[in-house]
Amino acid sequence: MTPRNDLFLRACRNQPTERRPVWMMRQAGRYLPEYRAVRDRVDFLTLCKTPELAVEVTLQPVRLVGVDAAILFADILLPLDAMGAGLRFTAGDGPTFDHPVRSLADLGALRDPDVERDLGYVYDAIRLARRELEGQSAALSVPLIGFGGTPWTLAAYLVEGGASKNHGRLLAWSWEDPRGLARLLGRLAEVSARYLQGQVAAGAQAIQLFDTWGGLLDARRYRELALPALLLVVEALGGSVPVVYYLNNGAHLLPELLALPVEVVSVDWRLPLDEVRAILGPERVLQGNLDPAALLAPPERIAELVGELLRRGAGGGHIVNLGHGILPNTPPEHAKAFVAAAKRHVPVAPGGSLQASR
Ligand code: CP3
Repeated sequence: MTPRNDLFLRACRNQPTERRPVWMMRQAGRYLPEYRAVRDRVDFLTLCKTPELAVEVTLQPVRLVGVDAAILFADILLPLDAMGAGLRFTAGDGPTFDHPVRSLADLGALRDPDVERDLGYVYDAIRLARRELEGQSAALSVPLIGFGGTPWTLAAYLVEGGASKNHGRLLAWSWEDPRGLARLLGRLAEVSARYLQGQVAAGAQAIQLFDTWGGLLDARRYRELALPALLLVVEALGGSVPVVYYLNNGAHLLPELLALPVEVVSVDWRLPLDEVRAILGPERVLQGNLDPAALLAPPERIAELVGELLRRGAGGGHIVNLGHGILPNTPPEHAKAFVAAAKRHVPVAPGGSLQASR
């Protein structure tokens, strides 16, 4: 069943829309007091693994902020947990792994997850979220986005054993033994492909792949190391649903993305959208790219910045979003101002007539 507010899905396919859809990366999260109230009761992993609660926080930004898409509440690191890497989230330190992978022997010690058994809670949450969304009023009946990390970004956490400032271990492995690292990336691609196919089967209507750390690489090493494993994941999804590829800090890698068969490229804020489009061409749908820190500005300023973003994005298909996840110290009123401004502005074509924003 197609959602009654299907702006996001039509925009992904580069079909005409009355206005551009808008949502925010990390829209279900700590900036919302309603999210913090749920987190006061359960820890983060329990929240991810309890479908009723995961769906409750998935729907919060739809009801409270008015976004045109829901993104399942989960985390990119969950499949690594299912592989037995011993994932924990600690306040302050973020994610850590009891069993980081720093050699092929470490990799061999991880298990091959049965995604239905070990990640079934994600699929249950997707099915429940779809049912809940279909029961909402027309405007709130929005598409559900599933997601995962790219193999390179998953490796960035798994090899380091958690978040890292300089990724010394990952980069050391990449120079000492690029073939060995490619085996790890291939394995992560295989697991991700099955995990994401399961999300689609459960009802995810688009898949976003987060490449938070892709920008660490120069163009040649991105092409040689990160891209082959990413392509395996994209090909496994095989056009079943639109794929959004999010690349952080990757302006220098945009020419490489011409070879990536995804519907939507989501970019950070460091390059304006018209310049991104000049590299990727007018046919590729772009998503982004307001600096999340700009949501700390007064709401009137946010509205102005959204106006500029819409102008810069006007040369082709555009899904309005941030350039990275919303910051936890964003006032909810500012997030609402961002979404409201994106919904209000209908760009005027050069001739002066109202133009559907593609
Ligand atoms: O609303 C949504 O976008 C859906 C949920 C979502 C989360 N993580 C929930 C979360 C999504 C899409 C993610 C993706 C994710 N997770 C990424 C890629 C996007 C990005 O920000 O670059 C990455 C790198 C992770 C791994 C991760 N999860 C880290 C490094 C951390 C700790 C840092 C932090 O932001 O706290 C997390 C924890 C996490 N994932 C939180 C949330 C809401 C905060 C946990 C809490 O409530 O205490």
